[in-house]
Amino acid sequence: MAALIEVHNLRFRYPDGTEALRGVDFRLEGRETVALFGPNGSGKTTFVLHLVGLLRGEGEIRICGLPVEKEHLKTIRSRVGIVFQDADVQLFMPSVLEDAAFGPLNLGLPEAEAKRRARRALEQVGMAGAAEKAPYHLSAGEKRRVALAGVLAMEPEILILDEPTTFLDPPGREALLSLLQGLPQAKFLVTHDVEFALALAGRAVFFEEGRIVGEGPVAEVARKHQWTVNQRRFFSGAQTG
Ligand SMILES: Nc1ncnc2c1ncn2[C@@H]1O[C@H](COP(=O)(O)OP(=O)(O)O)[C@@H](O)[C@H]1O
Ligand SMILES: [Mg+2]
Repeated sequence: MAALIEVHNLRFRYPDGTEALRGVDFRLEGRETVALFGPNGSGKTTFVLHLVGLLRGEGEIRICGLPVEKEHLKTIRSRVGIVFQDADVQLFMPSVLEDAAFGPLNLGLPEAEAKRRARRALEQVGMAGAAEKAPYHLSAGEKRRVALAGVLAMEPEILILDEPTTFLDPPGREALLSLLQGLPQAKFLVTHDVEFALALAGRAVFFEEGRIVGEGPVAEVARKHQWTVNQRRFFSGAQTG
């Protein structure tokens, strides 16, 4: 069976000349969860935007065996659900329910089925009570959850989450963590939150200046790149209170 995500020698330069990706090779096999760490500006968001064809670089990308090219984009976007770093770019309908139903409608599902899926997804993320609200009235954490509902309503095989814990308070972060732990999909998780990654991902890759410079078990990658504010807490096991 083809890998879910397969990337070979991906390079990308923004029109202003910024070299954002400088030869990335990456594979995501079956139903695994992979964390993506790396400093701000290292190319993480640029990379995930390539996976659904929102940016086009040089190199090769296949999703479930399909090259990311125009004729496959519709299929690919039904299989890969992406929750953007900025939820505001994702929510644009007059109500939360319509936002969550937008993806399934776009897939060509009848309205009743699209709304049924949207309601179920809103329940999954704990936002069913806000179905009739305007998305722009929600808090940042709630917007993130609605954006996730819109993605889940598509019933994708792969979930990509770009810095999903940003703006979440501790209970919101915990709720998101247990929600994600209960979802069967393969996940690709861009995050600075090592603890969150440890709880979800089997392995991690580390980006630097548009390249993958390390990969392996989450704790090992984080330690090697000193990717935590409080290393002792995660790695020596010593709790100093
Ligand atoms: N639209 C854009 N135009 C020009 N440069 C960009 C644009 N978006 C991002 N960049 C640059 O590309 C690099 C990678 O950015 P990004 O992928 O957003 O990094 P990350 O998600 O790791 O923080 C950075 O140097 C950033 O400034
Ligand atoms: Mg980013």
